[in-house]
Formats: sequence, structure tokens, C-alpha cells
Amino acid sequence: MKITFLSHACFLLEDGRNSLLIDPYLTGNPLAPAKAEELSADFIAVTHAHGDHLGDTAAIAKRCGSTVFAVAELARMLRNEGLTVSDGNLGGSQATAFGRIKYLPACHGSGIPGGLACGLLVEMGGKKIYHAGDTALISDMALLKEEEIDVALLPIGDYYTMGPRDAVRAADLIRPKLTVPMHYNTFPAVRQDPSAFQAMMEAKGLTAKVMAPGEILNL
Ligand code: NI
Ligand code: MN
Repeated sequence: MKITFLSHACFLLEDGRNSLLIDPYLTGNPLAPAKAEELSADFIAVTHAHGDHLGDTAAIAKRCGSTVFAVAELARMLRNEGLTVSDGNLGGSQATAFGRIKYLPACHGSGIPGGLACGLLVEMGGKKIYHAGDTALISDMALLKEEEIDVALLPIGDYYTMGPRDAVRAADLIRPKLTVPMHYNTFPAVRQDPSAFQAMMEAKGLTAKVMAPGEILNL
């Protein structure tokens, strides 16, 4: 199982057979280590319709024939754009070619009328990955503790989402084996020092790994 950090909230998950790209914001992203044209994915999952998450979804999905996972209203919009979608909604999970995907609550705007932002619980390659999406700290995260999550991808940028202190509190609730910070330093409003976040995590006995854009984590 391989996780590539593509900067901001974008990660590529690969199990050796299937690939899942999450929140592919590359065009216009100053930290992007790759161009949208250089990436391919069997599946794409989008947490919400803000531009720094929906990003290059349509272009990549059209070129690769990817199936796109999204909450119903966003899925309908993407279907109307000619994409192949698999819709879902909060609390629901579905079996996939790579394992399973579940839509979890995120406390954030959806970027589309009537829609909801989500986080994602992905089961792939025998691992459980939680991508929090853009979210405030919510006490519901405590429910994830019993999932025994391998890797939690948590925003630390502040301003639009949790900041570092709340992300540490989130990790304390979720208790994943490893936390990777995301959604920081992409633009001035979300400037953060990820090593300070890592130090705060370690002071609480929690494990974090700061990934550089383009860096690969093997699980
Ligand atoms: Ni957002
Ligand atoms: Mn965002």
C-alpha cells in the first residue's frame, strides 16, 4: 500500500492494482509536485466542491475514464458534466474494486447548493485511511477511534479548517497509528509550520509524519 502526498489535500493511494486519487488540486497549486496531465487514477474521490479540492477532477477523470466518488449533489453535477460517478452520502459506505469507501461528516461548506462536505474512510490494501477533508474539529471524530485507523490525513492550515492545535485534539480523539498533516502552506492564509505540529503531537504521545509534496509513504 502506497500513499503519495501531492500537496494541499491531494493524495494518491495505490494498492498495486488500483489507484485512488483524492482531491486532485494541481492546476494553480503552487506546491503541486506534478501536473494534472501527468497523473492517472482508476478512481477519484472528492470531499467537496471548493476549487482547491475539486480541482482537476473533470480533466483527469475524462482522460483516464476514472470513476468519481462524491456526495450526491456534487456527484450529480459531475455526472451532468459527462463523468462516470458513484454517489453516496454521509454515513454510507460502499464496496469498491479496491476495498471500501465511507462518507463521513465534515463540518465545512460544500461549495455547491444543497450539498454536504465530507471526510472519507478508505479501506484499501488491508489498511484504513481517514481523509478528513476540510473540517472543523468535531467531537464525532471520537467515534473513529474504534475503527483503528492506520493513517489519518488531517488539515492543519487554520483559517478555513482546523489549525494545528485542533488537529492535535482531533488526532487525540481518533488515535490513528499515524497522522499526516495537510492543507497548509499552499497559500498565505494557511501558512503553518508542520514541524511545530509534529512536536505538539509528540508531546501528547501521538505520531505524526510531515510529508513533502511528492513524497511517498509505504505502509
Ligand atoms: Ni473547502
Ligand atoms: Mn480547502
